[in-house]
Amino acid sequence: MTELAPDIDHFLQSATFGEDPFADIAERSKKAGLPEIQVSAVFGRWLQLMARILHADVVLEVGTLGGYSAAWLASGIAQGGRVISFEIDPHHADVARENLASISLEDYVDVRVGPALDTIPLLHDDPHVAGRVDLAFIDADKQNNPSYLDLIVPLCRPGAVIVVDNVVRGGSIIDNSRDDVSTVGSRDVLHLLGRHPRLDATAMQTVGTKGHDGFAFAFVN
Ligand code: SAH
Ligand code: DHB
Ligand code: MG
Repeated sequence: MTELAPDIDHFLQSATFGEDPFADIAERSKKAGLPEIQVSAVFGRWLQLMARILHADVVLEVGTLGGYSAAWLASGIAQGGRVISFEIDPHHADVARENLASISLEDYVDVRVGPALDTIPLLHDDPHVAGRVDLAFIDADKQNNPSYLDLIVPLCRPGAVIVVDNVVRGGSIIDNSRDDVSTVGSRDVLHLLGRHPRLDATAMQTVGTKGHDGFAFAFVN
């Protein structure tokens, strides 16, 4: 069943939106030695449409890598909007800034370097951000996903959406013998989404160019 998934991803892409406008970013990131773990094109497109549906002005991203998903998000934000993207690795951040400048998106994405556990809390004092986040995409080190969720929910406006990537991990989340930090962080964030007083959540499995995985998403009340 799943061996057709990458071809199906390409068919779905070509049927519904055609060329990947950000394929060069993925290519340049690969040449710069970054791991090829960015979202698929169809998922990037979905993130762009979410930003448009929400009329998003303030988007947060945890985990910039080379700026591929940031480019999709930035291309969906409202006039005057911003993506604030957190990245721990200065080299990744440099590559992302160069990539975004190469397609004139540098003014729409603010890449903040440092461990996101330290840099996200700085936003609680920023009047342009606190309580005004429309969309958040959590896609960095999975072990900290519960903490990222706890830090981001208070920054969100009612009606915001939070997306958490890679929560299925080939099924390891239901394998009780798996206790690696990424699996535990992904499992724990799902339970936290389910019991959080401000969130209504669900999660979906995906197959495609990136194998068997999935994402969670939540509406912020
Ligand atoms: N969202 C990107 C992919 C992100 S890959 C895309 O789809 O294009 C995960 C990124 O998170 C990597 O660049 C990694 O360096 C970064 N990261 C890992 N731990 C982090 C931390 N503690 N704080 C911020 N970024 C982190
Ligand atoms: C990895 C991280 C991701 O965010 C992803 O989408 C796929 C793989 C990883 O760390 O291997
Ligand atoms: Mg991911």
